[in-house]
Amino acid sequence: MTPWCTLWGLMATISIITSSTCVYAKMNVIDECWRKNPNWRSHRHELAKCSVGYTGNMMNNIGRGVTNYKVNDPSDDAMNPKPGTLRFAMTHVKGKVWITFKRDMNITLQKPLLVSSCTTIDGRGVNVHISGGACLMLQRVNNVIIHSLRIHDCKAQPAGPVLGPDAKIVHLGPVDGDAIRMLSSSKIWIDHNTLYDCPDGLIDVTRGSTDITISNNWFRFQNKVMLLGHDDGFQRDKDMKVTVAFNHFGPHCQQRMPRVRFGYAHVVNNLYLGWGLYAIGGSMDPTIKSQSNLFIAPEDGNKEVTWRQHNENGMSYNFLSVADVFENGASFSQSRSDDGLAVKPNYTKEQIFPVECATKVRDLTKSAGALKCPKASRCSIKS
Ligand SMILES: *[C@@H]1O[C@H](CO)[C@@H](O)[C@H](O)[C@H]1NC(C)=O
Ligand SMILES: *[C@@H]1O[C@H](CO)[C@@H](O)[C@H](O)[C@H]1NC(C)=O
Repeated sequence: MTPWCTLWGLMATISIITSSTCVYAKMNVIDECWRKNPNWRSHRHELAKCSVGYTGNMMNNIGRGVTNYKVNDPSDDAMNPKPGTLRFAMTHVKGKVWITFKRDMNITLQKPLLVSSCTTIDGRGVNVHISGGACLMLQRVNNVIIHSLRIHDCKAQPAGPVLGPDAKIVHLGPVDGDAIRMLSSSKIWIDHNTLYDCPDGLIDVTRGSTDITISNNWFRFQNKVMLLGHDDGFQRDKDMKVTVAFNHFGPHCQQRMPRVRFGYAHVVNNLYLGWGLYAIGGSMDPTIKSQSNLFIAPEDGNKEVTWRQHNENGMSYNFLSVADVFENGASFSQSRSDDGLAVKPNYTKEQIFPVECATKVRDLTKSAGALKCPKASRCSIKS
């Protein structure tokens, strides 16, 4: 795909192509997989086949033995959750669980919600807010889908006990108030969520978490958006692999879209509506392949997309920009990659997906965030 994208990108800038060539985008590859079916409500589990990137598909979340669970009670009790609540599904339902919501609801969590393995939280078709209290935490789990939630105004939490998977009591330390925090977790797919206004970050991928796809989300009104890699001392994150695709960043996102330590991020077909300090950055020798994104620099201030922290050994990063499109004077300072070989994502058959031209990114991200899904019709615009 790369040569074509590059070619079309070049041609677009000299205005040779007409709008029929590369500009009319269909849905992106993930959405096309399920949103085209007006009857998706009766086939919710089909979603598991739609993920791409490092998470691969989510077939482990469906099939034999999956429990369909409907949340009908927005209340929360961190130690004695009631049947019908979201926390009850995490703590008392064993094995695979596919969670939906009976109606629109606002959930204020008393304590972080410890999401269990083989869990799908599917907010499609309803308007579910998780806000004003604690938020989501994925600790040593795998095979999780988080879809179509509105998570915002999360609050920092003091240390304390909370009921976790298999109804075991877990003593959590204090948390900063991230919307979705992953620790030592893998095969996680975060798709079509709307995330904003949290005291720390919106998404944190830490402590050896890997095989993650963060797609179709809408991030806005946030200082630190997405952290990939725990801290500068946590070497194990060098194996971290994350795909960041089809997301809509902005307005009013300042930095970390994402910020990467040690590991590898494939950042592809995202829309950047400005930034404050920077859009993409990192430290501790991370590798970032930025491909076919649309970067629109802010009117005032820093036009440079990247930021990196130098360490005492000098070079400490490997950033490559391939077929990105830059508007409003945006610039991308690349490093160390002459042939691009070192930054190949090396996707497997199950993970690979077609990269679209950056000129299509506005269309491909048009419905990023939690969708509005009127009854008996396709899910359409974001809200
Ligand atoms: C959720 O809260 C918002 C305000 O934050 C309110 O407009 C909406 O009606 C609430 N929804 C429900 C289902 O209570
Ligand atoms: C992909 O393979 C090449 C060649 O083996 C390697 O240098 C590179 O680090 C790999 N990329 C990732 C993301 O592991």
